[in-house]
Amino acid sequence: MNSTKKRPLSLYFHIPFCKVKCVYCDFYSIPKREATIPGFVSAILAEFDQKCESLDLSNHFLDTIFIGGGTPSLLSPGQVETLLNAVYKRFAISDSVEITLEANPGEAPSDKLKAFRHLGVNRLSMGVQSLQSNLLKFVSRIHSPHQALETFLAARKAGFDNINTDLIFAIPAQSKSQWLEDLREVIRWQPEHISAYSLTVEEGTALHRWVAHRTVEMLPEIDDAGMYLDGRALLAAEGYEPYEISNYSRPGFACRHNLNYWTQVPYLSFGPSAHSYFQNQRWWNVRSLDGYLHRLTNTLPVQAGSEVLTKDQRVSEYIFTRLRLSNGISRRDYQARFEVTFEERHGKRLAKWLQKHIVCVDDHYRLTNAGLLLADDIAADLMV
Ligand SMILES: C[S@@+](CC[C@H](N)C(=O)[O-])C[C@H]1O[C@@H](n2cnc3c(N)ncnc32)[C@H](O)[C@@H]1O
Ligand code: SF4
Repeated sequence: MNSTKKRPLSLYFHIPFCKVKCVYCDFYSIPKREATIPGFVSAILAEFDQKCESLDLSNHFLDTIFIGGGTPSLLSPGQVETLLNAVYKRFAISDSVEITLEANPGEAPSDKLKAFRHLGVNRLSMGVQSLQSNLLKFVSRIHSPHQALETFLAARKAGFDNINTDLIFAIPAQSKSQWLEDLREVIRWQPEHISAYSLTVEEGTALHRWVAHRTVEMLPEIDDAGMYLDGRALLAAEGYEPYEISNYSRPGFACRHNLNYWTQVPYLSFGPSAHSYFQNQRWWNVRSLDGYLHRLTNTLPVQAGSEVLTKDQRVSEYIFTRLRLSNGISRRDYQARFEVTFEERHGKRLAKWLQKHIVCVDDHYRLTNAGLLLADDIAADLMV
């Protein structure tokens, strides 16, 4: 079958190792287990092979690969090569496949970056987070602002021409001018992509405990909103298209992997806690690294659960993800997918958000600035 007739597929490999656990992070990642990495690589390869054998993938072409975590830059080039070779054995690979690897500043030396680039990794995502030493320390990051720049420059030198920097704002005690100065400095580096996340308090994290015990106070919502909107305006003025609620890119450099997640392209994910979506089914793996390794070495399934999405779930997912995109919800696409018009299904609720929070432009429902601040609430309300 000609690859142009095939449908896109994304692959995600979750590497759950970190040198230290950041106080805000609830992604599945654990410190002090680096000795387990060689065994883990064999296990994730076994999972990948088993899954690919069990599915009919002949109607799909590989569009994107994302090696995320955790800290995938803790893998050796040889380990990344083994992973990618396993993928290349099963899928036709070309330069047009987007291959992202997450690298922590200060933890990805230049020879490693060169080797990753040489292996075909063509997009690097760096967790810069902040350029204020005191704020980095507060969130227990182990890199300095200077190391963030060093790693960025080393990535450029290694040949990466598609680099993302992750930034976090609304960190307790951070001022708006500090945040905008961080942003201006990162813009001077000229990355192709910037993700800017408002710090969220996730259950089970150290930050959650500190906030609960009142040893730390989060910024008031109004400050968070001001930082968000001013940051968004600055990025747009500097030529970074705000293509999603927290994501900005130079034209042509939007993250295809994440866009695939947000536009319901199927993806297969591997590793502990990984979630997959394929043929209207969703499944997820066990979360614990030891449970994952134990199951794979004993040829037991690593899947912890699965569900076939109902129509309501599909509609809900569609609204939650599309509304966050600046392109918004296409009325025509919605009707083609769900065989009902958007207004027939959500009209009553939509009316209360129209104009102030949602506008219809070129047949697409899009969030206004006021709407961006309430995106999840609006999506949930539209589903009622
Ligand atoms: C899973 S992390 C992996 C990246 C890499 N390990 C790192 O931290 O440098 C992806 C990004 O999510 C963001 N993030 C994680 N937890 C967050 C939280 N509670 N609030 C805001 N952003 C968060 C951070 O910007 C982080 O870089
Ligand atoms: S934010 Fe990144 S480095 Fe920090 S614990 Fe989470 S995955 Fe690890």
